[in-house]
Amino acid sequence: MLGTGDAGVLLQEKGLDVPLSNGQTAYFNYYWLRDNCPSSFDPETRERVNDIFALDEAPRAASAAIVGGDLEIAWAGTNDVSRLPLSLLSAYSAGEKRPDIANLPREPWYGDHYAKMARFSYDEVMEDTGRRRDWAKAMLTDGVALLTGLPDTDEALTDTAGLIGYVRPSYFGLTFEVKTHIKPTNLAFTSKALPLHTDLPDEDLAPGVQFLHCRANTVEGGNSIFVDGLAVAEDFRKAYPEDFELLVNVDVPYFCEHDTFDMRSRQRVIELDEHGNISGVTISQHHADIFDMPQHELDRYYPAFCRFGRMMRDKKYLMQFRLNAGECIVFDNHRIVHGRAEYSATSGERHLRGCYTDRGELRSTYRILSGEGRFK
Ligand SMILES: [Fe+2]
Repeated sequence: MLGTGDAGVLLQEKGLDVPLSNGQTAYFNYYWLRDNCPSSFDPETRERVNDIFALDEAPRAASAAIVGGDLEIAWAGTNDVSRLPLSLLSAYSAGEKRPDIANLPREPWYGDHYAKMARFSYDEVMEDTGRRRDWAKAMLTDGVALLTGLPDTDEALTDTAGLIGYVRPSYFGLTFEVKTHIKPTNLAFTSKALPLHTDLPDEDLAPGVQFLHCRANTVEGGNSIFVDGLAVAEDFRKAYPEDFELLVNVDVPYFCEHDTFDMRSRQRVIELDEHGNISGVTISQHHADIFDMPQHELDRYYPAFCRFGRMMRDKKYLMQFRLNAGECIVFDNHRIVHGRAEYSATSGERHLRGCYTDRGELRSTYRILSGEGRFK
């Protein structure tokens, strides 16, 4: 039985006050209550089927009461009744963002990280969802992990990537081969040293997660160099706060132009998340377009940009190692900066096969494997 103001519910013009189990009273807007009643969601598709746009007038409660563990509302002018669990109301009563299990604290790492790097075998991530969850977690906290024991097949790379996302194309296609090309369209496809960079900042949405499966590496030289851009950016923030602000706020033009493509985009060197924490970096000297900012702004920007680029090369941050055949390094392309020492192309064979997935799917995988979700 519904009754106006029953059990301490106080009806107001645009919403109502509800006493919650913690003893506090919280206010909820009528639109919100109408739109988020569990019956507003289709149990099969789990999508909202309520059409809040279709209301002729603002929703208003005719009466409301707490019945069992629910707030029951009879809506004015209709026969509709909503029942919202008090647990749902409590979760949203403070107006705070919905907690996200995938929002894990990022842990900066330094040049000594190779021995500590999270490692998983191909077989265990294929067969064991717990280990796959641990891998996804390492990707969120450390931004890098090493997979071992991959079969020497083309599918091994894409099958592995498919465990934590969908392989997404770039303008090089679904996959790419890092080896010496006869007509290279990218510095990576030569045997020259490859300065520290993140991949494809010239794309509107640069690839989120990168996979590099080493198929062969018998050359002299060619060691991999990885840096946690987050660790550098955190130190940079403390040491050079004004420069940091510039790298956070100024868009840099990036490009990649060849016979059949002309990619261009603008990115900020240091990326912050919604909480103001550093969430990544985007940097590539070989894909940076001619800076087109006003020249007087460059008086400040260039020194800050170079200071950051030099700091990134400090030995303190460089994780240098040899990638071996059968290994696959997986890393957050918006956080981990990578490069390679030059190698002698005639001394042997060096072949990495690569592909990308996106960060959103990585977080989705982690939530699913952690049993998180509103429809559990
Ligand atoms: Fe790269």
